[in-house]
Amino acid sequence: MRNGTDAGALPEAVRSHLQALKSEIERHNRLYYQEAVPEVSDLEYDALMREIQDIEREYPQLAAPDSPTQRVGGAPTDGFQTVVHSMPMLSIDNTYNEKELAQFDARVRKGLEDAAPQYLVELKLDGLSMSLRYEEGVLVRAATRGDGVRGDDVTENVRTIRSLPARLSDAPAVLEVRGEVYMTYAELDRINREREAEDLEPFRNPRNTAAGTLKLLDSREVARRRLDIFVYEMVLSSDALPPTHEHTLKLLTHFGLPVNPYWTLCDDIDSVTKVCDEWHERRFSLEYATDGMVIKVNRRDQRDRLGATSKAPRWIIAYKFPAEIARTRLCEIVVQVGKSGALTPVAELEPVPLAGTVVKRATLHNFEDLAQKDLRPGDLVEVQKAGEIIPQVLRFVPEERPSGADAFPVPTNCPACQSAVHKDPDAAILRCLNIACPAQIRGRLEHFASRKAMDIEGLGPALVEQLVDKGLVSDPSDLYQLNREKLIGMERMGDKSAENLLAAVETSKSRPLARLLFGLGIRHVGSRTAEVLADHFHTMDALMVAGTDLLTTLSDIGEVVAESIREFFAVKENKSLILRLREAGVSLADAVEEGNVRPQPLLGLVFVATGSLQNYSRDSIEAHIKSLGGKTSGSVSKKTDYVIAGAEAGSKLEKARTLGVPVLTEEEFEALLRTRTEGQA
Ligand code: IVH
Repeated sequence: MRNGTDAGALPEAVRSHLQALKSEIERHNRLYYQEAVPEVSDLEYDALMREIQDIEREYPQLAAPDSPTQRVGGAPTDGFQTVVHSMPMLSIDNTYNEKELAQFDARVRKGLEDAAPQYLVELKLDGLSMSLRYEEGVLVRAATRGDGVRGDDVTENVRTIRSLPARLSDAPAVLEVRGEVYMTYAELDRINREREAEDLEPFRNPRNTAAGTLKLLDSREVARRRLDIFVYEMVLSSDALPPTHEHTLKLLTHFGLPVNPYWTLCDDIDSVTKVCDEWHERRFSLEYATDGMVIKVNRRDQRDRLGATSKAPRWIIAYKFPAEIARTRLCEIVVQVGKSGALTPVAELEPVPLAGTVVKRATLHNFEDLAQKDLRPGDLVEVQKAGEIIPQVLRFVPEERPSGADAFPVPTNCPACQSAVHKDPDAAILRCLNIACPAQIRGRLEHFASRKAMDIEGLGPALVEQLVDKGLVSDPSDLYQLNREKLIGMERMGDKSAENLLAAVETSKSRPLARLLFGLGIRHVGSRTAEVLADHFHTMDALMVAGTDLLTTLSDIGEVVAESIREFFAVKENKSLILRLREAGVSLADAVEEGNVRPQPLLGLVFVATGSLQNYSRDSIEAHIKSLGGKTSGSVSKKTDYVIAGAEAGSKLEKARTLGVPVLTEEEFEALLRTRTEGQA
């Protein structure tokens, strides 16, 4: 259904059709993101977007910065340009109680020579301030506050914000507005669920996450996280600025900009105080964070008369909410062991309502933190949520400490396998280094089978626990040795479920390389990094020998990640896990698309492998060499380029020596591969 876009159509017809489609998408964005009354299904919306993309692909000259397709982000940049704000972005003075609010009112009245000001009270949104410049209704620049005078140009990233219209309606030729970029709790939650699956630390609060997101250099990554914005001031316009703030808010709404709906006009400071009190509790019903209220003089002429100090305008004040604190009993401290062996103390609390939710548990981060706070089971503790979504245990109440409450001992042994724990040299983390630890084994298997990894349906925590307890499975390769007989003895495992599980295990053998890489649980390798690696290397073999120099040339891979990958593949047990996966028939390579040629670092070289190798079987090293472009032979001749010799190599080694063919150990072979791979990168 591409009316007017068929091959013979004039670009003008295409242009107007495209414009109509763009307006339609913008209307749906408004209905969805601002008014929460969507008219079309996701499918219909996607179809409209695809139509726009098709047209822009066909007629690149029609692609414009106001296109909704820009919201998916553009190419990554090296850094942000510095922008000098046309008007400095000042801050706001704070007040914390009724008395300080009254003092502010007195100062305002004095400045206005006793005229009674009207105030407009808004929510103080807990995000990042942003300056937006529109020309002819199109966003041309978005800049962060920076030091107030100079900020960073983050236009590309801000264009990904779907609640911001790409084109304003009825806007003046030039318009500059200020607003707050934020992230909803629901979005933070969604991102953290993803991070959890990737064994990454959850983000603590929406504000910092929004800040971090805005500073990402890859706007496609920004587009994957949903940021939002509310606009609250108009600082520059080619038309006259409205006479009151109330007018401003209405006009901004009229342009199509998202304005927070909760604002109240107050005729005196007592009403202001009342509104602030009202929001103390009510703020917890919002889906985004607020850390107070902002009180603004409504009339522009009065604002102008009051002016500003070097730091903040005199016509505005913030009222900050006190952070909510609840007291509850710390019932127990439990120690969790993650899939990489990290031990984390967790506080089990008597459930207590706090800032909109019921809190039952709180992470205590690490044992240094715990020791410093000296928290003991049985203590009455204070728990705070402040800007944080994840509750924090602040302190215990000394007068309420029960007699006989003992300090929680720093574990010297892993609670799951009793092996001695070690402290990470560069962090306060205690770690169980026993890769055979059942808690780690369970964690690794659950991760391997998880949806974003090998996606083995039916292999959840309960079954993993049984399989590990019965000694049937201790690493992912064992999953491929399961059969009906082994499974049938498990609880709640009938013929049908055994059959289904075996089928799911079988299907997982052909998952793309990125899924397998992610599933291996290499530290710091999340699903995105796994994709970058698979895209570049195409085969496990090529990745296994890649050095850190090559790895760090890939986007998103820094020293720490590269080092972690190298370390993983240097461990004997991990190499043999890969070997067993290979032998079980798990795909270790992606099919190479046309034009997407796999690196062939061994092209033109002939190898002979002899003796018993540590990390390869004869078959697997030959497959490895061939997948990298080399040839293998069963006998040594003058045509042999290298002999790879393991332990107890016999006549072939001797022959190589006689003919002067270079002989490599396994390590030397891998070093050769590394050099040649880097040479090709
Ligand atoms: S008006 C002169 N209105 O709070 C400042 N700011 O703590 C004009 N903020 O930098 C800004 N909600 O980022 C204004 N409704 C609101 C606000 C708001 C949050 C932020 C803003 C400012 C910070 C100061």
